[in-house]
Amino acid sequence: MRVDFNKIPISGAEIDYMRKAIDSGHLQGGGEFMKICEDSIRKTSGSHCALLTTSCSSALDMAALLLNIKEGDEVIVPTFTFVSTVNAFVLRGAKPVFADVRPDTLNIDESKIEELITSKTRAIAPVHYAGVSCEMDAICGIAHRRGIAVVEDAAQGFMSYYKGRHLGSIGTLGALSFHSTKNVIAGEGGAILVNDPSMEERANFIREKGTNRIQFVRGKIDKYTWVDYGSSFIPSELLAAFLAAQLEKAEDFTRARVEAWNYYAKNLSELEREGKIFLCKLPDGCVQNGHIYFISTDTPQRASQLAEFLKAREVFVNSHYAPLHMCPMAEKLGCSGRPLPVAEKMAKTMLRLPIYSAISRDQQDWVCESIRDFFKA
Ligand SMILES: Cc1ncc(COP(=O)(O)O)c(C=O)c1O
Repeated sequence: MRVDFNKIPISGAEIDYMRKAIDSGHLQGGGEFMKICEDSIRKTSGSHCALLTTSCSSALDMAALLLNIKEGDEVIVPTFTFVSTVNAFVLRGAKPVFADVRPDTLNIDESKIEELITSKTRAIAPVHYAGVSCEMDAICGIAHRRGIAVVEDAAQGFMSYYKGRHLGSIGTLGALSFHSTKNVIAGEGGAILVNDPSMEERANFIREKGTNRIQFVRGKIDKYTWVDYGSSFIPSELLAAFLAAQLEKAEDFTRARVEAWNYYAKNLSELEREGKIFLCKLPDGCVQNGHIYFISTDTPQRASQLAEFLKAREVFVNSHYAPLHMCPMAEKLGCSGRPLPVAEKMAKTMLRLPIYSAISRDQQDWVCESIRDFFKA
């Protein structure tokens, strides 16, 4: 039985809504569907303000601009993340300071943050890996004491919560992704959550190429002009129409993924008890969205042998990020820093299993049976 690694979710209303957008004659950003999406994301997240963006990367770029990150600043980031978490700050001239991660969640190890803070630290950018929250009380506590910002990379965290609060709505700013690989998609797309009301106006300027076009659209001024830094961070109405259709089914998509996540957890627990594999964990206080289910093995060799074994049975699994402090760009920028042993090991021993809203229990049984067979062989 073939089990693909990922399959995009489709609500069924996408084409209809995109047709409506075309018929409306308004295809640039700022249309009706964008408003529908932003209202929905704001309600779900509980954030003060949600602005749709072309991607999570754009939302992170906007966050760096909003915080006036500049040459010489330092930003603390987990090394186990996607490049966009750091590029946003590096593009403003800041130096990324890499932190190690926890083996249970692959999230930034909150106990390793304080020792990385210097007089140049301007922000901490926790990444909620797999849609499972970082230890936000500890992280926000440090940030508050030290007077620095928190930018949550919640690319994978739509409809995930920490102690009842939606991911991305807890720090100063949050960034969500609606990339095709996520739980709710627009092909490419994202949103910035602006949790500090005093930043809302500037966020609108920055998203609209550094202009006050929003005030013009609202009839407050008769001509718009250049007022800030910015770029074209606003998505087309066609993408917003697609996303609006997806958001209507977001709860169903998430419920199905969480059920699939729980099914893996239950059916693989015996292998963990036998010491064959290690399973990802959900810390207390976290409600997750089933974005990723990962396991890890004792050695990198075992992980690659398992991946090959599964591929021969048409079960497609994947590792994930290369720790950024070990990448060529970190060396070029001179920010490789010290060894970060947990991320270095986990990056080579972890495997993500197939998970999506349409995965069947038969497919999951085949995945679990194949993993068991690998360890019997
Ligand atoms: C942790 C993290 N941050 C940022 C991004 C970038 O998201 P986007 O593709 O929407 O720019 C990703 C993409 O997968 C990600 O995993």
